Amino acid sequence: MSTPEVPPYEIVVIEPFAGTPENWKDLREQSYGVRLDVFHHEQGFPAETEIDDLEDVGTHFLLRLTSGADAGKPIGTIRTSRHTSPSTGEVYYKLSRFTVLKEYRSYKFGVRLVHAMHDYIRADVKKKNLERTAVQTNTNATTNEENVPNAESGTADSDAFIRVVCHSQIYIKGFYARFGYVAEGEEFLEDGAPHQNMVLRLPLEP
Ligand SMILES: CC(C)(COP(=O)(O)OP(=O)(O)OC[C@H]1O[C@@H](n2cnc3c(N)ncnc32)[C@H](O)[C@@H]1OP(=O)(O)O)[C@@H](O)C(=O)NCCC(=O)NCCS
Repeated sequence: MSTPEVPPYEIVVIEPFAGTPENWKDLREQSYGVRLDVFHHEQGFPAETEIDDLEDVGTHFLLRLTSGADAGKPIGTIRTSRHTSPSTGEVYYKLSRFTVLKEYRSYKFGVRLVHAMHDYIRADVKKKNLERTAVQTNTNATTNEENVPNAESGTADSDAFIRVVCHSQIYIKGFYARFGYVAEGEEFLEDGAPHQNMVLRLPLEP
C-alpha cells in the first residue's frame, strides 16, 4: 500500500537543560500530551507512571504539523537517554516513550521519529567523544544492567556501533526489528503489560 500524502511537519529536538530552546518546558508538555493520549487513554496504562525519572536527563523529540488548520499540532514523540554500565563502562542509549497519535499512523511518522533519534545518537556519540567507550573490548564480560547483552569481542570495523535498548510492547516488536533491533532475554511485565528487551547495534556511520 502506498503512503498517503504526508502533511508538512517538523521534528523539534528538546535537549535536557543547557542548550535547550527557551520554551523547552512547553515543548516537553506537548510531548507529554501526546504520550498521555496514546499510552493512557488509548492503551490504558496508568497516567501516574507516565512521567518517570528520565524526563530531565533524556532528549525528547516532538513531531508537529506545520501548516493548515492543524499547524502546530503535536502528533508524535520519542525520547532517548544516555546510560553507562557501572560494571563495564559501556555507554548505551535507551529508546522510550515512542508514540504517534492514532489518526496519524499511516504517514510513516514513527519511522521518521526513530531515524531522527538514531541520527541524534550518532551525533551525540561524536560530540561527546564516546566512540572509545562504545567500543566492545571484553570477550566474555557479563552486563545485566538494563538487560544489556554481553559485550562481545570485535574487530575495529565491527566495533563501530553503539547499543540502543528499548522495552518493546510485544505487538510492536516487528516494527523495531525492521531497524535491526533484536530481541534479548525473556519477556517481562512493565506497568502490567508484557514487554521484551530489544537491542540495536547502531552503526556509528550510517
Ligand atoms: C509504534 C508507533 C509509534 C509507530 O508509529 P507509526 O506512525 O504507526 O509507524 P509508521 O507509519 O512509521 O510505520 C511504518 C511501518 O511499520 C509498520 N508497522 C506499524 N505497526 C507495526 C507493528 N505493530 N508491527 C510491525 N510493523 C508495524 C507499518 O505497517 C509500516 O509498514 P510499511 O512501511 O510496510 O507500510 C505507533 O504505532 C504507536 O504510537 N503505537 C502505540 C504506542 C506504542 O505502542 N508505542 C511503542 C511502545 S514500545
